[in-house]
Amino acid sequence: MGYLFGLVGYPAKHSKSPWIHEHFLHQHSQQGAYRIFETSPELLRDQLHALKLVEVDGFNVTVPYKEEIIPYLDEVDEYASSVGAVNTVHVKDGKWIGYNTDGRGYVRSLLEQYPDTKLNETRVLLLGAGGAARGIYRALSEVGCPVIDIANRTASRGEALLSLRCEGTHSSVLSLAEAENELSTYDLIVQTTSVGMSPNEDNQIISLRNVRDRAIVSDIVYKPFETSLLIEASSKGARVLHGHGMLIYQAALAFEQWTGMSVEADHILTKFEQQLK
Ligand code: ATR
Repeated sequence: MGYLFGLVGYPAKHSKSPWIHEHFLHQHSQQGAYRIFETSPELLRDQLHALKLVEVDGFNVTVPYKEEIIPYLDEVDEYASSVGAVNTVHVKDGKWIGYNTDGRGYVRSLLEQYPDTKLNETRVLLLGAGGAARGIYRALSEVGCPVIDIANRTASRGEALLSLRCEGTHSSVLSLAEAENELSTYDLIVQTTSVGMSPNEDNQIISLRNVRDRAIVSDIVYKPFETSLLIEASSKGARVLHGHGMLIYQAALAFEQWTGMSVEADHILTKFEQQLK
């Protein structure tokens, strides 16, 4: 008998997670399967009850249940609890323990692609203040980024992120127009909103006219492969980070949590990107 993992979400059937996790299992010559448990809201309770009965080793949680799952868990780790969202459940001695690997997956993708990045000297501009931004903000703050400014269309949502700040990080909340004007002061720009996502790929959250040469511009949107923001970044001499890395590395961190085995995900990322191009 091998491992049994899965995904609870709605919709979920087009998820790439089975493909990714089956590669991780293969890398370690492990038997196992990763199943999609697509669950509509009225069936969530029953689905989770059924999962308690089968011998699942762990599962991921995606939209719209990353917050709703929390009351069903026996424990939630400190990071997931502060972010207020769980994307990974580890079943350990019958207990359901919640984690969140999204933000840390983003940081790992950044360091895998740009290993020379000195995070403790990196001035960050975070665009957006939704669920994805919360996890990334916390993860960048805990690894010691000295400045993480937040620019969001709705300032109050940006301010709500400040409670996630770790000691040593300074943050201001800016308007998108202010961020655009101040862009040259940042080393890393992280786009976390849905702006630019297919089928609205011509939309771009801010102009990069003031971006610093060699700054890193990242976009967590991965459809289209090159968002308009990343195309402009490349044309201005900035370095780019695509959204697929976060997807692959959040999965790698979940797999490592479930199995205790570390995965080398870089060639899986390359293979994944080749399929999309
Ligand atoms: P997620 O959990 O995927 O991050 P979310 O919580 O709905 O999704 O957050 C979406 C983010 O995209 C927010 O920062 C949102 O800005 P507001 O807080 O002002 O709503 C941002 N966003 C979405 N559409 C936008 C648009 N057309 N222009 C600017 N920002 C937009």
